Order: sequence, then C-alpha cells, then structure tokens
Amino acid sequence: MFALVLVGGFGTRLRPLTEHTPKQMLPICGVPMIEWVASHLADHGIQEIGLALGYRPDAFRAAYPDGRIAGIPYKVAVEPEARGTAGAVRFAALEMQLKEPFLVLNGDVLTDLDIGALIEFHRKSHAEATIALQVVADPSRFGVVTTKDNGQVREFIEKPPAEASPSNTINAGTYVLNPSVIDRIPDTRPVSIERETFPEMALAGTLYAMKSDTYWLDTGTPEQFLEANLDVLHGRRQNKPELPLAAVEATAQVEDSVIGTGSHIDAQAIVKRSVLFNGCRISKGARVIDSVLSDDVYVGEGATIEGSVIGLGERIEAGVQLVDQTWPAP
Ligand code: GTP
Repeated sequence: MFALVLVGGFGTRLRPLTEHTPKQMLPICGVPMIEWVASHLADHGIQEIGLALGYRPDAFRAAYPDGRIAGIPYKVAVEPEARGTAGAVRFAALEMQLKEPFLVLNGDVLTDLDIGALIEFHRKSHAEATIALQVVADPSRFGVVTTKDNGQVREFIEKPPAEASPSNTINAGTYVLNPSVIDRIPDTRPVSIERETFPEMALAGTLYAMKSDTYWLDTGTPEQFLEANLDVLHGRRQNKPELPLAAVEATAQVEDSVIGTGSHIDAQAIVKRSVLFNGCRISKGARVIDSVLSDDVYVGEGATIEGSVIGLGERIEAGVQLVDQTWPAP
C-alpha cells in the first residue's frame, strides 16, 4: 500500500528548532525524524512513500537527492500554500494519482504501530477510512474518538476540554483512506482532516478505528521531542534505523576517550584514554585502557585490552586479556 506522509506543517510549537528546518528533518538521536517514520513503514512492507510538502520543501529534496529515504523510494507533492491536513491529502493524492486505498501518516508521530493489522482491519470492516487509536492519560490535546464494538466511530471530537472528553482514546495520526475520501474535501480553502473530514465521516457512519497499545509519541512540543530522543536511548522503541551516535550505558565509565559513531559501551564497562573507531561493541564489564580499536571491533564480557591496537572487525572473546599487543599480530 502506498503511504502518504504529511510533513508540510510549520512546526510552530518547536520554534526556534523549526525556524530553518522542517520538524521532520530534526534529528532523533542523530537520525532525521522522517527516516524513523520511513524505516518503520519499510519494516511493515511499504515499498513507496509520498511526502506532502509545504514548509521548506527543499530541505527534504536536498537531504535525499537519490530519491530514497531509509531505502524506500519517495515522490513529493509541494503545496503552493498551506492547505491544512485534509487539503494536503487531497492535493497530494490528486498529484500522485492515487486510485487505491492508501495510508496517511502525520510525519511527526513516532510509533511501532502494526501497519499490516491496520490495513487488515480496514479491509475487513469495509470502512471508507480507518484510523489508528491510542490510549493516553491526557486526551485534551488530541482528537478524541469513541467507537462501537465493531470499531465504527461514534464520535470524533478534536481537542475537547479535559473535563468534557468522552474517552481517553485518541486519534494516533495514522489512517487508511479510500480514494472516495478525497471527494469529501473541498479545494477552495484550507481544510483540517481532524476538525472537518473525520467528524463528518463519523456522522455518516463510514469511519472506523482500531485500537493499539504499542509505542506511540507525538513529537510536536519541545518536551515530547526530548522524550522521543530519551525513549530511543532507554530502548523503548522496537523499530530503529541505524544510529550514527555512540551509546554509553549508565553504569559504564568513559574517560578521556573518543568513541566512534554506532559504538556501544555496555554496563560496567570501562574505557579510558582510548580511541574507538565506528561500530565497536564493548561488552559488560570489559576494560579498554590506553588502546586504539579499529572499526567494528567486538570486545567480549570481562575482557581486558590495555596498551593495545586492535584491527578492523576483530573479535576479542569474553575474559581474554590483551596487554601491550597488536592484534592480529603483525
Ligand atoms: P504546530 O505549528 O506546532 O502545530 O505544528 P504543525 O504545523 O506540524 O501542525 P500539526 O502538528 O498539527 O501537524 C500534524 C502533521 O500534519 C505534521 O506532520 C505536519 O507537518 C502536517 N501538516 C500540518 N499542516 C499541514 C499542511 O498544511 N500541509 C501539509 N503538507 N502538512 C501539514
């Protein structure tokens, strides 16, 4: 299924971060947000994506000049002016000539949602549109949704006051839409899918919703943006593109050392006065002191490397002690 990602908003709540950079090009642990979204889609078998662009469209094209994001080919539709979330869907769907049901994603949502299950639910319920739902503690910032047992949406209320919220189940920003939804969206003015299109479809009885309790985060505010980064560091995500950062576990000790990107220092490991190139793994309780490790070196649990130089891709097994050595030996 084709996936259309909405990435054209101004991201005003994240200013000044979004002053020069669109929100979805901001880094989450060093990887632009759009790559997180695209790699999640790739993990669920999506083979082509479209970007609905508006604010600073050139940032995306400049970052991915070979026409792929996280390995998936992409096309773009650039709105001449902000059209709102539904207007953006209409504009891009017509530009991209979408004739089959397609996915729509808010590009600022990070989730491990089972996309295949959502598509399956949509097909089985013969819905015109199906939205993924998430349960949150404070629904007042979101579109609140109530459903019948079969998933048919009874009510869709965008950002109700906390005390008036009929449930804490919210619109998670991932949808499957039949092409007929496009005809519901006027093209004479900006239209919000959350404020107009979905509430109207709920009244018409053609909107369905599927609940999910997987990882989900809307990154729209500075607090949530920070949380998105920490969630990756704390291993709360299933889906992960390759990270260019080094990771150092809380109980590891690193002093006077250079740690290359993609390296990982496990708990209770010690690294002192050493240089690690990229992609090294220092396992639990291992010690690396006064040493240089080339790319992709693996040091097993409790091993010691002291005053040594280790070559590309070498494996130093658990418990081994290498002192004043060049490895492999010349
Ligand atoms: P704020 O200004 O901080 O509210 O952020 P935002 O502009 O990103 O708005 P919001 O978070 O409500 O948008 C949800 C998703 O829709 C984001 O991925 C936006 O990039 C996208 N979006 C919002 N408005 C438009 C639009 O007019 N055109 C396009 N193409 N995308 C939009």
